[in-house]
Amino acid sequence: MTTSAPIVVLSVVSEIFPLVKTGGLADVAGALPAALAPEHVRVVTLVPGYPAVLKALDEVVPVLQIADLFGNPAKLLHGRAHGLELIAIDAPHLYNRPGNPYMAPDGRDWPDNAIRFGALGKVAASLAAGAVPSFQPHVLHAHDWQSGLAAAYLRYGHERGPRTVTTVHNLAFQGLFPASLLPALALPPQAYSINGVEFHGEIGFLKAGLALADWITTVSPTYAAEIRTPEYGMGLDGLLRVRTERLSGILNGIDDAVWNPATDPLIAAKFDARRIAPRIANKAVLKQRLGLANDDALLFGVVSRLTWQKGLDMLVEVLPTLLATGAQLVVLGTGERALQQAFIDAARIHQGRVGCVIGYDEELAHLIQAGADALLMPSRYEPCGLAQMCALRYGTLPVVAHVGGLADTVIDCNDMAIAEGVGTGVQFTPTIGMLEAAILRTTALWRNGRVWRRVQRNAMRADVSWRRSARRYAQLYRDLLAEKGR
Ligand code: ADP
Ligand code: GLC
Repeated sequence: MTTSAPIVVLSVVSEIFPLVKTGGLADVAGALPAALAPEHVRVVTLVPGYPAVLKALDEVVPVLQIADLFGNPAKLLHGRAHGLELIAIDAPHLYNRPGNPYMAPDGRDWPDNAIRFGALGKVAASLAAGAVPSFQPHVLHAHDWQSGLAAAYLRYGHERGPRTVTTVHNLAFQGLFPASLLPALALPPQAYSINGVEFHGEIGFLKAGLALADWITTVSPTYAAEIRTPEYGMGLDGLLRVRTERLSGILNGIDDAVWNPATDPLIAAKFDARRIAPRIANKAVLKQRLGLANDDALLFGVVSRLTWQKGLDMLVEVLPTLLATGAQLVVLGTGERALQQAFIDAARIHQGRVGCVIGYDEELAHLIQAGADALLMPSRYEPCGLAQMCALRYGTLPVVAHVGGLADTVIDCNDMAIAEGVGTGVQFTPTIGMLEAAILRTTALWRNGRVWRRVQRNAMRADVSWRRSARRYAQLYRDLLAEKGR
């Protein structure tokens, strides 16, 4: 192909912002297509036809009828929504359900998730292999375990196919299912091998994607290095070490139109790096909303899933230290019941000093980013993390664990960085003691208003957009296409 012809990428993903989102995966899937357009890359995203997807789809054209997709007929619908070019799998028996993409409203995984996301991989492979003649992708780009089987269906079911990339957003979610499902998934017996879908006696969706893709990426260079080690590899480090020449880390960005404090319609007062002062109005509104005492205390914020990964149980442990400095805390999140309860209790016991909202609230997330002084992310591991990048953009100093993408996006305000004028936040090793020390360091920094404002300006000027990373993905696609295909 010539360099001027656009590269066509079939992106395969189980959630996409703003249609369906449970985490950062949706943000990435939703933002990358627009970021890649200036790089001459056309991204068409294949998504399950959940009710929210079918409802949002515009300019709908049916492009393929499938007589039998795991028990019932299905249709592929090409359409657009919010500037995204999509192909939705209209298969009511698989996707027309309430709740989030993975769980029923009672919080339990759908019992047929293997088939639901097997179907996503199967359709992806047939599209990639040319099932719709007018649509011939050059690259199949699969995200996380839910899309992991695409590479397997391609390898074991089709003669030809495009180049393939698997991106890992979180190695903890591996999509492991009983080996007995192999026939139900319509995979041939030879797929169940150490080089294919088999993983410790089960079918591993993510493992298949990692073993069979032409290239593996993950969402930060540090996480790409970490996951080759037993400490972070979640049992897949051996495979990742074998494939080390085919694994790279490309940082996420954030959508700087959605996250722009100068234009954000969800915040009380707009501001930018040259006019930071209006932030104070956001802080006042935030405090009022959460019932926090109206003094000039340093306000720490948390916007996060409440899970082991995020290390927020450590924050509960060090809360007495945080409060002893005179600081306040606001937490927005949802997740593990015990952790939710711990923050609800803290807000009750420390009324006026700790505020807590359990739930998913886009608007409040923006207000916290615009009104808190610092954002806490004590993650035990963090493939990339997006909230700290939003925080940088909004002048909320990220106080983050030195892991994964947090290590790659925040510049610690050590003495040298302050002297050089380059610090943008605070980093620490994710242990209780070091989190405590980081809170004390942040408090000390806060007391020096001049330095704090300087760090805020540095943070707000950091480039957290998709531009650099979009160029890297485009280059990766070009490099793969330049290699000899199958
Ligand atoms: P992860 O994908 O591991 O949850 P990320 O930091 O990559 O973490 O992305 C999470 C995204 O979801 C961020 O944009 C964050 O602001 C947002 N988010 C997390 N929890 C909530 C919540 N309770 N309400 C609103 N937004 C949330
Ligand atoms: C995952 C990771 C998070 C990352 C996001 C998007 O949810 O936990 O660190 O930012 O995917 O890549």
